[in-house]
Amino acid sequence: MARFAKFCKDMGFIYQSSEIYGGINGFWDYGPLGVELKRNIKEAWWHDMVRNPPLGPNGQEIHMVGLDCSIIMNPKVWVASGHVGGFSDPMVDCKTCKGRFRADQIAAAQCPLKPSKAPGQFEECQLTEPRAFNLMFQTYVGAVQSEDNIAYLRPETAQGIFANYRNVLDSSRLKLPFGIAQVGKAFRNEINPRNFTFRSREFEQMEIEFFCHPAESMMWYQYWRDVRKKWYSSLGIQSDNLRPREQGKDELAHYSIGTTDIEYMFPFSDEPQELEGVAHRGDFDLKAHARHSGMNEKFMYFDEERWNADAGTRATNSFKEWLKTNPPTAEVEKYQFFPHVIEPSAGADRFTLAVLCEAYTVEEVPDAKGKPEERVVMKFHPRLAPIKAAVFPLVNKDGMPEKALELYRQLKPHFNVFFDDKGAIGRRYRRQDEAGTPFCITIDGDTLKDGTVTIRDRDTLKQERVPMTEVQAVIAKALTPGC
Ligand code: GAP
Repeated sequence: MARFAKFCKDMGFIYQSSEIYGGINGFWDYGPLGVELKRNIKEAWWHDMVRNPPLGPNGQEIHMVGLDCSIIMNPKVWVASGHVGGFSDPMVDCKTCKGRFRADQIAAAQCPLKPSKAPGQFEECQLTEPRAFNLMFQTYVGAVQSEDNIAYLRPETAQGIFANYRNVLDSSRLKLPFGIAQVGKAFRNEINPRNFTFRSREFEQMEIEFFCHPAESMMWYQYWRDVRKKWYSSLGIQSDNLRPREQGKDELAHYSIGTTDIEYMFPFSDEPQELEGVAHRGDFDLKAHARHSGMNEKFMYFDEERWNADAGTRATNSFKEWLKTNPPTAEVEKYQFFPHVIEPSAGADRFTLAVLCEAYTVEEVPDAKGKPEERVVMKFHPRLAPIKAAVFPLVNKDGMPEKALELYRQLKPHFNVFFDDKGAIGRRYRRQDEAGTPFCITIDGDTLKDGTVTIRDRDTLKQERVPMTEVQAVIAKALTPGC
């Protein structure tokens, strides 16, 4: 992983945060290529899940909307969600080396004094009993640092969605089932950040809370498990490396009726590791916020259509009136209930890391003279590739640079493209292979005669001659979702 992290740094994918001051554990920066890659991932997710989600199990349209909530919320949100009371990992300290370790991951950790052993296995280790360590970052809002002003950086984006559930319903006139999506930063004071960006203290999530009728919740749980697994495959993750795993009853979070982790075989581990959790959260969150805010009616869903359909069976069509003589029973719950929630919760940084691992390829290819040479190539799916195409003049004379610049300027408003007229053409190809650019377009002597260019495919190395006027369409086709 250290070698891979160096490659990512040298190429401008990921840098250690504040490196010039020795870094800070668990925080990372994205460089020029990394920021494009991560943006493409988030945009693909938003496009495929929010704007254009796959049809439902019965061919129905899926209704999704987005939100962008504040990172710091009223701390009561985190009391209601259970994070203040219980969002903790078991931690042990070593009195000898002063190291801190997650008790449940100690077997995979290294003793700082004796790295070949796990903490506790070296005779000098003096481990304490495990104690709960709350992972939320605490801060103060306002000038006074008092108990009353304590606030938290959100440890997940999900709660902003639950807190706004009623606002969204009221302002968008959605009906069940529907989903609310959010992409944004989350912060966890992880005890042992590790494996490059895999476990960071600041990271981004791509979360959906899908609200549905309790009777249909298992169908939607299945739907989202399938949709989310297929999404990773559609972006080039090989199915062998993707392992959906249903959590055992003993692993489930307190709120969960069932959770499937979509796991990925990262090269740093023999075991697949979580990319995303798809959780059936039941009515835990809406009920918790209803109870803590004292606003039941804000979180319950009134099925107006059903109520109106049964109008003939009642003396009044006012639900409030009718409730006075109908205390909460199964019949009332037919009309008013807490929706159940299915939550596909993915990590943008974890998936970026998986995409980098998946794309990284070292292979032998023939050089210009046909001799085998090693190349490093990032085989990104074209939708995710940071640079979509590079434009080169074969040589810097005979009008080729001007023609190449003309094509570059044509393509620039549509795609992230790169112009390179420096060095031997073979070297320019290799640089783009390392950046994962799917197409290299070369302007040569024939371009000036017949208006055609060569397009070189990054993976097959095949070069095709196409009219310059068709280049934009070739790139656009490769970027079309589903291709
Ligand atoms: N709202 C549910 C929730 O937050 P989670 O399993 O704790 O569930 C969801 O987090 C996803 O967020 C994970 O599958 C992972 O991709 C990402 N994630 C969680 N903790 C992370 C960390 N410390 N560093 C990077 N990504 C993390």
